Amino acid sequence: MILQRRNRILRANPAIRSLVAETLLTPNDFIAPLFIDEGTGVRTEISSMPGYYRNSLDNTIKEVRELWSMGIKSVLLFIKCSDDLKDNTGKEAWNANGLMQNSIKAIKDAVPGMVVMTDVALDPYSSYGHDGIVKDGEIVNDETVEALVKMSVSHAEAGADFVAPSDMMDGRIGAIRAALEENNFTKVGIMAYSAKYASCFYGPFRDALDSAPGFGDKKTYQMDYANRTEAIKETLMDIEEGADIVMVKPAMAYLDIIREVKNVVDVPVSAYHVSGEYAMIKAAAKMGWLNEEKAIIESLTSIKRAGADLIATYFAKDAAKLIG
Ligand code: PBG
Repeated sequence: MILQRRNRILRANPAIRSLVAETLLTPNDFIAPLFIDEGTGVRTEISSMPGYYRNSLDNTIKEVRELWSMGIKSVLLFIKCSDDLKDNTGKEAWNANGLMQNSIKAIKDAVPGMVVMTDVALDPYSSYGHDGIVKDGEIVNDETVEALVKMSVSHAEAGADFVAPSDMMDGRIGAIRAALEENNFTKVGIMAYSAKYASCFYGPFRDALDSAPGFGDKKTYQMDYANRTEAIKETLMDIEEGADIVMVKPAMAYLDIIREVKNVVDVPVSAYHVSGEYAMIKAAAKMGWLNEEKAIIESLTSIKRAGADLIATYFAKDAAKLIG
């Protein structure tokens, strides 16, 4: 054959392939989610997330030092709240001496350079396991926003660099930005979970924090996975209200959304490779059906290629090792 163009020329060997590779992962891309528990010396493996742990603060600090030494610059904190502190107001969420607040302080003291992001939603603190306050069987918006504002300010007081509202209430980004301004936290940013879908892929996370909803589901606040346009609307509104970074969540089943969001925004886009996505790879690898290392790198590269500037992933450490 006499061909005008031969595409295989650029695939001929690893050196050529690396020269023309468009998407390269670096540890700077990763946000490492951390589950923090009460006590000391605690390191509990999450049954539905093999290889991932809920650590007490002392072990969390060790973990943060290790992440930092591997080049990972950001952690996203989640707290497991004990049952006796849970109620329908979620008030433990803004306890100045709560586990979250103490963890933020301790992590910033131990590794000052680490960018500390904190999850903002009431579910770990809610006796109903919902992200907001429940009244007559409904998750009420405006009162919940007041609670999220208090929670965000208390995280800022403890030293958080970014608060990350994951609750999907209306108007919360604007209210949180205003409160941060009023309290002089002009350097604290907001990473908004803007396009967060009501997804079955959060199941293992709810095991990790014992935060599954006690009744119903989250479909009156999280988005319907049938929808695309709504993701753009939510994201643009969050940016207008003051979001510094926007997020699409989950990631692998929502690559189209990541790309569409990336095409229309002028802020960094993050994607959350969620607990169920982690569990799927782990399970298939355990069965010998997938090569775990290859599945990790291919998945994360695809998420970045789709348009994610940042990826929150339980594979942050594994991936940093693999690309290191
Ligand atoms: C809390 C929150 C959830 C996740 C992050 N923040 C669970 C939920 O909305 O039910 C899920 C993360 C994961 O599955 O890895 N609002």
